[in-house]
Amino acid sequence: MPSAAPQWRLIRVGADSVPDPMASSMQEVVQAYYGRELSCSADLRTTACCDADAVPEALRPLLAGLHPEVSDRYYGCGLVCPPLLEGCRILDLGCGAGRDVYLLSQLAGASGAVVGIDMTPEQLAVARRHQAFHAERFGFANVSFLEGRIEALETLDLEPGGFDVVVSNCVLNLSTDKAAVLAGLRRLLRPGGEFYFSDVYADRRLPPEVRSHPVLYGECLGGALYWNDFLRLARSAGFADPRLVSDRPLAITEPELAPLVGEARFFSATYRLFAIDALEDACEDFGQSVTYRGTVAAAPERLLFDKHHVFVAGEEQRVCGNTWQMLQASRFAPHFHFRGDFSTHRGLYQGCGGAIPFDTASPSGGCC
Ligand SMILES: C[S@@+](CC[C@H](N)C(=O)[O-])C[C@H]1O[C@@H](n2cnc3c(N)ncnc32)[C@H](O)[C@@H]1O
Repeated sequence: MPSAAPQWRLIRVGADSVPDPMASSMQEVVQAYYGRELSCSADLRTTACCDADAVPEALRPLLAGLHPEVSDRYYGCGLVCPPLLEGCRILDLGCGAGRDVYLLSQLAGASGAVVGIDMTPEQLAVARRHQAFHAERFGFANVSFLEGRIEALETLDLEPGGFDVVVSNCVLNLSTDKAAVLAGLRRLLRPGGEFYFSDVYADRRLPPEVRSHPVLYGECLGGALYWNDFLRLARSAGFADPRLVSDRPLAITEPELAPLVGEARFFSATYRLFAIDALEDACEDFGQSVTYRGTVAAAPERLLFDKHHVFVAGEEQRVCGNTWQMLQASRFAPHFHFRGDFSTHRGLYQGCGGAIPFDTASPSGGCC
C-alpha cells in the first residue's frame, strides 16, 4: 500500500474545485496500486472496481475463452460492449491486463481492430504476454497495446477521427486531468462515433480528505466525479448530450474505509457519448419518430439504447431531435427507419429531467 498521501493543489473544473494531485505523484500512486499492490480482482477492498453487471448470455463463451491470467486481473466496473462492433476500430483507455480488449477483439472480428492504452507497465506486460494465445484461439490478430497516459493521447501515434468506438472501464476517475482525456478522445472519434464507458461517480463533490486518500483513490472512489460535474465536463469537451445506459449503487464494505466517505454515495454507471456536432444541449421536440427494424443480431426484439430508450422491433417510437441524430449519424442508422425532419420545432421534449439520474436503492454488497 502506498504510505504517504499525495500533495494536492486545487484547480477549477466547471463549477467545482477538484484536486490536481501533483499529477505525477498521483499517477505513481495509481501505477503502484495496479502494478504491484493488486495481483488479482479479489485483492480489491471495495466493490467499486468490480463488475456486478450480469454478463449477457451471448458474451459468456467469449469471456470463458480468455486466458485466465487476463481474466484474473480484471478491475473493471461495468460492461463496455455496445452492439454492432463488427469491423469497428476500437480504442480502450486504461485497458489494464486486456480483458476488455480481448473481448472486444472477438466482437470486432478480423476486419476490425482494438488498441489498448495503459500507463502501468506490469498491466501491459500481462496483456502483451497473451497476445499470441488469443490470436491463435480467435483465428486472427487484431489487437495492439500502447504504453501511455490517457491525458496525452495526442502524443501517441493515433489517427484523429480514426476510431468508431472508444471504451474505458473504471479509469476516468483515476485520471488527474479528466478534461484532457475527454478532449483527446473526442478528437480521435470519427463523426458519429461514440465513447461508451463505465466509471464511478459520487452524488456530491468530495472533500479533500477523501480525494487525497491513496486507498480510496486507488479503489476508484477518491477521484470519482460528482455526476453533474461529469455532465458539465462532457458537454464542454463537445459531447452535448451524454446518455446514461445503466447504473448501480456501490457498497463500501471495508469497515476502515466506510466512515471516511461520510454521507457521500457512489455509483457505477455506463454512459454513451456520441461525437456528433449537431447535437443540442437539451432534448428538443421536432415531432420525429423512428422504427427499429429488428436487425441487430444480438437484439432482434428489443434494442436497449440508453436508460430511457428501449426500441421494440417494428414499433414506431417518438424521439427527440438528439436521439434522432444519434441513431441517424451513427452505425445504428441502417437498423432504423426514420420519419420526420427538423423543419418544425415543438418546444422542449417532454420528460427530460434534471434530477439525479441514478437508482438510489440500497447498495449491492457482493461483487461479480
Ligand atoms: C481500475 S483499473 C481498470 C483496468 C481495465 N480497464 C479493466 O477493466 O480491468 C485502471 C487501469 O487504468 C490505468 N490508468 C489509470 N490512470 C491512467 C492514465 N492516466 N493513463 C493511462 N492509464 C491509466 C491503470 O494503470 C489501470 O490499469
